[in-house]
Amino acid sequence: MRKNIVAGNWKMNCDLSETDYLISRLMEQKLDPSVQVIVTPPFTNLHHTYHLLKSMPIGVAAQNMHQEEGGAYTGEVSAKMLKSIGVETVILGHSERRAYFGEDNALLAKKVTTALTEGMTVIFCFGEELQERKEGRHFDVVKQQLKEGLFHIAEGDWSRLVLAYEPVWAIGTGETASPDQAQEMHHFIRETIAEAYNADISENVSILYGGSVKPNNAAEIFGKPDVDGGLIGGASLKADDFAAIVNAFH
Ligand code: 13P
Repeated sequence: MRKNIVAGNWKMNCDLSETDYLISRLMEQKLDPSVQVIVTPPFTNLHHTYHLLKSMPIGVAAQNMHQEEGGAYTGEVSAKMLKSIGVETVILGHSERRAYFGEDNALLAKKVTTALTEGMTVIFCFGEELQERKEGRHFDVVKQQLKEGLFHIAEGDWSRLVLAYEPVWAIGTGETASPDQAQEMHHFIRETIAEAYNADISENVSILYGGSVKPNNAAEIFGKPDVDGGLIGGASLKADDFAAIVNAFH
């Protein structure tokens, strides 16, 4: 059964004291207990956040990890290191990693394999750029991202996978995909998975929408049948806004 999930992607925001403040404010919020809530602080604050939230129903995930198990990769962090501090979920494939750090589908396929082999859960992000949508290529682009980044994984690993459709033109721009555009793409994603695997897998995977989700538009987007929640950037840095989004499911 797929779950409703709201994950806050803090990106490169919040030093230690800002993390303490945001977490303490989050702990004061009333959050819908039927929604799986996740926060993803930067690496430096993962361990600290994990301990602060240990007794709370809020999960902690990383924003990235390296594809190798370990070794001479200066500045990188492995799946094993994340697991050793209690972090068992990782975001992979975010458009900012793709655009600014050269992460392509082939590299992401390796990262996904490593994370799943290590027993982690992956929140896999993908989505088209504005020009690709304008040219009517958005379905092809998304299909390619799924095929090359994900469709090598075993059927049994899909239970540890969450998808996040994030059209690049909607990230941090204040411009969201309309609820109908989100639904149309999420439906296409499920069809594509059903073709490559089967209907059982495609019906059971949670597909989140990301891109300028705010308290005033979350309910309408989450109300669509193939949208199972959101990956939230800017609005996840304000506890009240994040809570309002978590509580936006009908
Ligand atoms: P915004 O919510 O700030 O548009 O960011 C979305 C995002 O990139 C989440 O991963």
